Amino acid sequence: MNADALILAADSALRTLWAEPRASRPTPSATATSPLSKPERREAGALMRVNHVGEVCAQALYTGQMLASQDPALRAQLAEASREETDHLAWTLQRLRELDDRPSLLNPLWYAGAFAIGFAAGKLGGDRLSLGFVVETEHQVEAHLNSHMERLPAGDAASRAIVAQMKDDEVQHARMAERAGALPLPAPVQGLMKLAAKVMTAVAHRV
Ligand SMILES: [Fe+2]
Ligand SMILES: [Fe+2]
Repeated sequence: MNADALILAADSALRTLWAEPRASRPTPSATATSPLSKPERREAGALMRVNHVGEVCAQALYTGQMLASQDPALRAQLAEASREETDHLAWTLQRLRELDDRPSLLNPLWYAGAFAIGFAAGKLGGDRLSLGFVVETEHQVEAHLNSHMERLPAGDAASRAIVAQMKDDEVQHARMAERAGALPLPAPVQGLMKLAAKVMTAVAHRV
């Protein structure tokens, strides 16, 4: 990585972890929200914290992959997708605050890990495998967000509206990567990614 890339990486990390994210689209809104009980609020907060961690990782992955690629067209596509991930970051953070909850204390660690994985995927595998990594990640995130639609309290329409829009966006990110020529990832890599996501979601639910 050259000096410019290092500065870009540091800038992205600082902005993701400590700056106030600014969404380019309004927060998806819900028509009818019913009041939540204390346990419901706590569970919704835990789930939205997991989703916020996912978006911290999305920023890190996309930045790592962008810096690893030499192809300006691919870099532009990744930048476009990461702008939508910034919306997700802002929406989930806002919802966490509304639920009187907080982001994961381990976010710097999640960021560092995801950045290393994204950079390595691009450098070791090349652009088409890096795109395959986007497809697999977004598919796993889609499945995960589907499970949250079942686990979120029925009355929490505000969180549900955000998760539903995020899911639509993640599906589009996977399509973008497929159209750009993504290669399928080997099964053991897919398995490892699922395992890493499981650990992350279990920890972020609490910490
Ligand atoms: Fe996202
Ligand atoms: Fe995405």
